[in-house]
Amino acid sequence: MAYTVPKLKDFSTNALTRAFLDLKSAFQEEVAKPRSEAEWKNFRDRWMARKNGLLAQVNDLWLKAAPKEAKREVGKLVNEVKQFVEQEFEIDHGWTNTANAFSATLQTVDISLPGIRRSIDAEHPIIRTQNEIVRVFQDLGYSVAEGPVIETDYYNFEALNFPPNHPARDTQDTLFLANQESKPRREQLLLRTHTSPVQIRTMEKMKPPLRILIPGKVHRNDPPDASHSPMFHQVEGLAVDTNITFGDLKGTLDHAMKALFGSDVKTSFRPSFFPFTEPSAEMFVSCFICGGSGKRGADPCRPCKQTGWIEILGCGMVDPNVFEFVKHNGYDPENISGFAFGMGVDRIAMLKYGLDDLQLFFQGDVRFLEQFG
Ligand code: PHE
Repeated sequence: MAYTVPKLKDFSTNALTRAFLDLKSAFQEEVAKPRSEAEWKNFRDRWMARKNGLLAQVNDLWLKAAPKEAKREVGKLVNEVKQFVEQEFEIDHGWTNTANAFSATLQTVDISLPGIRRSIDAEHPIIRTQNEIVRVFQDLGYSVAEGPVIETDYYNFEALNFPPNHPARDTQDTLFLANQESKPRREQLLLRTHTSPVQIRTMEKMKPPLRILIPGKVHRNDPPDASHSPMFHQVEGLAVDTNITFGDLKGTLDHAMKALFGSDVKTSFRPSFFPFTEPSAEMFVSCFICGGSGKRGADPCRPCKQTGWIEILGCGMVDPNVFEFVKHNGYDPENISGFAFGMGVDRIAMLKYGLDDLQLFFQGDVRFLEQFG
């Protein structure tokens, strides 16, 4: 029989104590019974419901019904009852009371299994894009090489065939480290302006043939705005072997662009200049946003500036003068040839995700980054 709150006729201390003990034992019996959230809720409502819950009944049947002279003592008792029941509900019976059904469920859980792993971060859209590019070339057999962000003048410029004081150096607004003046120029430190120095570093260590991809941070003295940042990211590629031709360069990059932007993009190579490649080219892909038409409906297509083409990278055949610097390690330009390319990851990520402000990547606003989680 389920417990009901008795009407009291006898308001003596003894009778009150007995009534409280009955209520307590009824409560303790019931608190062990619920086997589901729903049953637990029913149980809680049975005791706690404002209207006609057992506690409310205690108030009505015991306190309100008590004769004047007993009110003080009954009042004290009813408070104790309330305190007892409320405290019991503060204890997490569902999970702590071993006599409880919920703990029976707990025992069937294999606590030796690993817990739920919560991810503590999301992949930054630039890193994600960088990894996608790397992946495409890894599938072609390229491996990844890395090098220092603080570089010497030798690797960043001299060994890449930028002679001292050559005007081509001016195209890369360089951030130099302070207090380097007393060192010979080639040892002076700077923040690398491109990933190309890792071409030299890798060729010094590894003999040909070589197929490497070089992702990394680079710096230039550009004030930040919607399309510039003093720090950005590049992925560089270098392939050296016997008989590498410009055809290999075009075929490789055309394949990579189709893998990255969709199989219907076209590539276009236009003459350019870099001191470390000869001939050099800039490669464009047909605009994957407007499909090459230069228009989006009636509006001009902004990402390609209505031209239908987007500039993606610089490339060319490795200049024999560059090989001269690593000739001692098997790179004799009489016997080998190679191609190189370098692309800006940040710009590609902007195009991919349809962003018009480069700074969003670097502000660390969780509301922005979460969208890539
Ligand atoms: N390093 C060049 C730049 O940052 C890009 C490039 C890389 C060009 C390799 C040709 C070959 O502009």
